[in-house]
Amino acid sequence: SFQPDYILRVTAEDYTEACTNRYSALVNGSSPGPELRLKEGQVNWIRVYNDMKNGNTTIHWHGLTAFTAPFSDGAPAASQWPIPPGHFFDYEVKPEVGTAGTYFYHSHVGFQAVSAKGPLIVDSCDPPPFSYDEERTILLSDFFNETDKHIIDGLTSTNFTWSGETKAILVNGHSRQVTNDTGSCQLASISIEPGLSYRLRFIGATALSFISLAIESHDITIIEADGHNTKPLNTSFLQIGSGQRYSVLLTAKSEAELKKVNKRHFYIQLTTLARPKTLTNFAVLQYSGGTDVDLKAVPSPPPLPVAEISQGWLDYELESLHPDRGFPKLEEVTRRIIIDVHQNVSDHVIWLQNGYDWVQNFPQSPYLIDIYNGKLDTSATYQRAIARGNGFDNITRTFPAKIGEVIEIVWQNQGTFDNGGVDAHPFHAHGRHYYDIGGGDGQYNATANEKLLDSHRPIQRDTSVLYRYREKTKPLAPSGWRAWRIRVTDAGVWMYHCHILQHMVMGMQTVFMFGDREDVLSQSGPVESGYLTYGGSAYGNATHSPVV
Ligand code: C2O
Ligand code: CU
Repeated sequence: SFQPDYILRVTAEDYTEACTNRYSALVNGSSPGPELRLKEGQVNWIRVYNDMKNGNTTIHWHGLTAFTAPFSDGAPAASQWPIPPGHFFDYEVKPEVGTAGTYFYHSHVGFQAVSAKGPLIVDSCDPPPFSYDEERTILLSDFFNETDKHIIDGLTSTNFTWSGETKAILVNGHSRQVTNDTGSCQLASISIEPGLSYRLRFIGATALSFISLAIESHDITIIEADGHNTKPLNTSFLQIGSGQRYSVLLTAKSEAELKKVNKRHFYIQLTTLARPKTLTNFAVLQYSGGTDVDLKAVPSPPPLPVAEISQGWLDYELESLHPDRGFPKLEEVTRRIIIDVHQNVSDHVIWLQNGYDWVQNFPQSPYLIDIYNGKLDTSATYQRAIARGNGFDNITRTFPAKIGEVIEIVWQNQGTFDNGGVDAHPFHAHGRHYYDIGGGDGQYNATANEKLLDSHRPIQRDTSVLYRYREKTKPLAPSGWRAWRIRVTDAGVWMYHCHILQHMVMGMQTVFMFGDREDVLSQSGPVESGYLTYGGSAYGNATHSPVV
């Protein structure tokens, strides 16, 4: 009989993090949930049970392409009916060959991903192109005092209430505040041995925080970004937005070096960027042997240099390890889609893309299911989008594209309609990764930008930051862009959205619909009838009835 390779159970329960009790969604009873280690090229069946009493759930495999199984992407209302309480969904997860690297999984419903998530590492069949003795996973997340429900209600009501800023940056689920913590929580400790070399896998699994990270007295070398090996790049800090991952190499100090400085622990400093209030938290890099630092004590590390937000960090600089022959040049681009991103403050606060928000009560049934069922007319959708000129079909609220097109997507930061406030947004793409062709102030200029790409071949990513080049602008004045180039190869329905959970809840999501029914079927083969008919409603708790 059928045996899943992994079982994940999503529950909602009282759970203590950062010395504070909170009603949180968990995976297998903890946050973060267990680390999954998958092999590239191998199919894994992962069964996800919704053990919550209220509320639907799904799990998204952040950064994996879902090429052979677009129905397993875990995006509610886009790729599947969500899982109602008391039910399960079997996900077919197959990391493609050549995609070994650092990923994570998380719920894609509401605000659950603030806690319901865990690391996902894809190992390669071949030995990795970098040598190191051991590796450590370092997952970063945010802690908020209020419950998911309270936060969502505040963000979506006409009496808009902001979630508040993050209360703590958690490292592998641990944090202790610099001031006034009285509970028994403790700092995260990453333990290493003198003289060895390490691959540290940093996962930006935050809800809101854009983090600048530095390790006391240690330099690091970037070797991977979002599942792609990069040319080694030395740095003294990292900037990690929600959804981004980096692997770095770290050479541990020798016994002799440790003796010289007379200590065996070093602080890892995490500082939030681009928010009205800056929060700094710590974790500890602990060398074995000798006495351990008291992780329950309030940390008093020497202040480390904080990387001030540098707007174009790694743009036109980080390169792929092996020359990438798949990068489509400017001449190959068939269509450019410009997406204006701005906040609208009317009866409630929403984030609009070209004048539209996308929230989970739209559509009534998941797009991909309608495609499999032959109920979504993809060619009419495509024609309407082309006729409108900006690539967007306002009936289905999707951006459709045909297999074989080369599209450019330009995210254009704009002021708001009223006071001109601007944020930084880590935009994430489901499905096939895009070529990140850069970003900058003002407006995108294709010819000028292409010149820069001659000397710095862009890397592929699944999450990159649309910066704010100024905090305030005149209403609707441009204040930064980020551009992606994509060869459309993967049929399916792919969410492209800001990875800040608050912004997602407030509508900062778009849907890209690639290919048609034949394309999807030839890629995935036929699907189970249960997938097509059964699950929770796209919004709320009600259960969608199976079609008989
Ligand atoms: Cu990790 Cu749709 O996101
Ligand atoms: Cu955002």
